[in-house]
Amino acid sequence: MEFFVDTADVNEIRELAETGLLDGVTTNPSLIMKSGRDIMEVTKEICGIVDGPVSAEVTALDYEGMMREAAVLAKIADNICIKLPLTMDGLKACKALTSDGHKTNVTLCFSANQALLAAKAGATYISPFIGRLDDMAIDGMELIEDIRTIYDNYDFKTKILAASIRTVNHVKEAALIGADVATVPPSTLKALVKHPLTDKGIEGFLADWAKTGQKIGG
Ligand code: E4P
Repeated sequence: MEFFVDTADVNEIRELAETGLLDGVTTNPSLIMKSGRDIMEVTKEICGIVDGPVSAEVTALDYEGMMREAAVLAKIADNICIKLPLTMDGLKACKALTSDGHKTNVTLCFSANQALLAAKAGATYISPFIGRLDDMAIDGMELIEDIRTIYDNYDFKTKILAASIRTVNHVKEAALIGADVATVPPSTLKALVKHPLTDKGIEGFLADWAKTGQKIGG
């Protein structure tokens, strides 16, 4: 499973990129707003930190507007992935952009049929939003499962990018189902490494080690 971080905070991205565990970044208009920075400037900086795909979202709602904005965003860097909403115009733009050789991420997916359409439009990634479905008492993970089945049935190459992840369990469940990528907020990504027994184990080993009076390499 690939890990993307879901943020436009360059300090968080830099810290996670240094671990060597980060495969890409996703942003959206709300995350750009949260960063307080200019979209072009911050996205360019992010593209320089990670080699993998960096999703930048269009805000136009019509096909022509989306294509115009996509052309501007695509010029930022070679690793830009154009993020498009799951609407008829978004799918039309997705088809045109993927045919032109761009990476695309179709976002705001809440049903298996929407995901089927995105795959037919040639999307590089489909982003089903788990957390926002869970918020409505609808099982977001069931959607990931349905999309996995449909894509495997027809051998669609579109990657399932599990999005709107809120918990470490969401990551585990999505990995068990076989989602290709998870885009995860920085704090949740960092929480994946945590286990109290790991901390307790280290504490015990270090206490015993101190009693030996030894040092490794000197
Ligand atoms: C994905 O690309 C989106 O940016 C993100 O996962 C949305 O998450 P939210 O529902 O927590 O806003």
